[in-house]
Amino acid sequence: MTRTLFTGGTVASATGSLRADVLVIDETVAAVGDLSQLAATMDMDIVDVSGRLLLPGGVDVHTHLDSGLNGPRTADDFESGTIAAAAGGTTTLVDFAAQAPGLGLMDSLAAHADKARGKAVVDYGFHMCVSDLYDGAMADFADVVASGVTSFKVFMAYRGTLMLNDGQLFDVLRRAGSLGAQVCVHAENGDVIDRLAADLVASGTTGPRGHLLSRPPKTEVEAVHRAIAIADMASAPIYFVHVSTAGAVEAVAAARRNGGAVAAETCTHYLTLDPEMYDAPGFEGGKVVLTPPLRSEEHRNALWEGLGLGDLSVVSSDHCPYCLVDKERYGKDDFRQIPNGGPGVEHRLPVLYGQGVATGRLGIERFVELTATAPAKQFGLYPRKGVIAAGSDADLVVLNPNGEIRISADTQHQRIDYTPWEGWVLPGRITQVWSRGELIVEDGRYVGAPGRGRFLARSTVS
Ligand code: URP
Ligand code: ZN
Ligand code: ZN
Ligand code: ZN
Repeated sequence: MTRTLFTGGTVASATGSLRADVLVIDETVAAVGDLSQLAATMDMDIVDVSGRLLLPGGVDVHTHLDSGLNGPRTADDFESGTIAAAAGGTTTLVDFAAQAPGLGLMDSLAAHADKARGKAVVDYGFHMCVSDLYDGAMADFADVVASGVTSFKVFMAYRGTLMLNDGQLFDVLRRAGSLGAQVCVHAENGDVIDRLAADLVASGTTGPRGHLLSRPPKTEVEAVHRAIAIADMASAPIYFVHVSTAGAVEAVAAARRNGGAVAAETCTHYLTLDPEMYDAPGFEGGKVVLTPPLRSEEHRNALWEGLGLGDLSVVSSDHCPYCLVDKERYGKDDFRQIPNGGPGVEHRLPVLYGQGVATGRLGIERFVELTATAPAKQFGLYPRKGVIAAGSDADLVVLNPNGEIRISADTQHQRIDYTPWEGWVLPGRITQVWSRGELIVEDGRYVGAPGRGRFLARSTVS
């Protein structure tokens, strides 16, 4: 039996933060409180975290590791991607398993699970992407859910590859809802976007800025409204991924006020990056060809406000990395061919802490809720993940509020040739990360065992 006592830190949770000691026995939190007497009576390792915050390990419910979902394979596999996650204080991922062309849901899931097993260094679950409703797909939903994959993702964009029509969206919502599963929806009006994009290319706008221009805010807002109505007709809950616009936040807020089982996430980049990045020289704008595109300050302010008011429930990374050289190779003559997506799993906590907590826009409790507690609850992982409490997995992040981080592609663990936050210096420094009682990150270095992550069978939410 291994006992570790973390002494002198401030333990943060979604409901408050307090000076407390944390006792970990083997992989689990055994007690939280004033445990100073205990150290004298039992044999244990002492970790002095005085002056530090102790946060529950981050839960990132939106990553695309080793994935060919919407183009070429992403640059991080489960080894590099989860090491990057760990370095950034994220100890749980829920990653998207793509439906492979011609394969059923269970075979697609098994293929993705094979990529993770023995490689992932943090614990992980999967969402099942549904893009081809073959005969029998609806019946297979039950097997997917029974295997601990209790959420699906569908797309209202990318006609011809991923997009479902409204009837199919209704079918998926109704079926998943009846099984107690969540449906994550990528809400954009794909058909309008395809026409706008074709017009832009025809008139000579072929560079990265075309990506922004072809996806105006209304393409998201309309799809969010439509999906809310369809979920209502299906009597099913709905979860919007990567919400980027003020109008989408308003629609989600209104639905929630009316009692709808509607929730939404936004992502680190929509809160912090400006669309002027599309105008960077050469092909640099390709770095932020991710979907939906970055939005203006008006939208960013609405997202921060939505986080504060509770209209938005989760901040995830949408980590979907492609090297800039690869983006350029595919799409230098036509922005439609640039693989969509950017990196972020490593910098979600540091950027949100530096831009949210350190600036006073978010309390530390809300930060914990958005990055760990709420995503764990939303996707059937709570209270095993997302909180430091007796009985929970001992996933702990030690953060020095007086330290700082300098973000750079040169020092990141993400296996990619850029980061959109290059050169940012932010207050707050993660000094240690523990996963199930094991020290896995020390001063930015991964020190855990290889391939130690475990698959998390998640519960349904009724
Ligand atoms: O640009 C993005 N977000 N790529 C990943 C696929 C998706 O839509 O989440
Ligand atoms: Zn998406
Ligand atoms: Zn995504
Ligand atoms: Zn590369």
